Amino acid sequence: MCWLRAVSLISMIFSASTYRGQLSYKSMHLTPFTLSALLASFHKVEVLNLNGLQIEEIDTNAFAYAHTIQKLYMRFNVIRYLPPHVFQNVPQLTVLMLDRNDLSSLPRGIFHNTPKLTMLSMSNNNLERIEDDTFQATTELQNLQLSSNRLTHVDLALIPSLFHVNVSYNLLSTLAIPIAVEELDASHNSINAVRGPVNVELTILKLQHNNLTDTAWLLNYPGLVDVDLSYNQLEKITYHHFVKMQRLERLYVSNNHLVALNLY
Ligand SMILES: *[C@@H]1O[C@H](CO)[C@@H](O)[C@H](O)[C@H]1NC(C)=O
Ligand SMILES: *[C@@H]1O[C@H](CO)[C@@H](O)[C@H](O)[C@H]1NC(C)=O
Repeated sequence: MCWLRAVSLISMIFSASTYRGQLSYKSMHLTPFTLSALLASFHKVEVLNLNGLQIEEIDTNAFAYAHTIQKLYMRFNVIRYLPPHVFQNVPQLTVLMLDRNDLSSLPRGIFHNTPKLTMLSMSNNNLERIEDDTFQATTELQNLQLSSNRLTHVDLALIPSLFHVNVSYNLLSTLAIPIAVEELDASHNSINAVRGPVNVELTILKLQHNNLTDTAWLLNYPGLVDVDLSYNQLEKITYHHFVKMQRLERLYVSNNHLVALNLY
């Protein structure tokens, strides 16, 4: 479809602009029909910005012609549901921003055809669980933002590629730390158990405002530089759990129930 026809098709609804394969829109509302028509019209789009358009629904075929899209921004909308096959034809997708929507669950297999995904944000939604097979195909996922949801379950240890993670402000009681994550914010949950493999990369760990009662699990993270354990239920801090740490610079333990602090 030629450029002029595409523009006339959508000009009533959008003011659209393209620049070097980037496409962005500003409008009040976006229907599934127009989205499909749009993508059918622009064959080489690599960046699609659909932020803040009050999108409520996405048609299952919305991205059927979106083979070239690498970065998809759909922040600040009111999307409640993603059709299971909506990203089936977006195999080049590397960045997906879905923060500040109304998602409460993810369909099974939603990311099974997006193996190049490296950055995903779904913070500020209403997600309750991340099922264990959700990221089984996204072996390059490095940056995962899930803060401010209602998560009671996400097993991050199943995503070994993770580098930066934020799961703060959820309802987690267990934290599973992946093998190579470098910065992890799991503050403001109800975490009372930390598990996962030894991780020598972990540098920054934020666990303030949780329900931790012990620190023996710290032995798995000898590379920590910055650890925040304030506002937990800790009663003692002992040298033995910090003995392997050579790089520790900042340790926050205020607002616990400390009766013993033995760091020598
Ligand atoms: C994680 O997300 C929370 C909530 O959006 C934010 O306040 C915090 O700064 C983030 N943590 C990091 C390490 O960026
Ligand atoms: C914190 O853990 C204690 C047991 O260690 C439990 O009784 C309590 O309900 C937990 N609090 C929250 C907010 O999960």
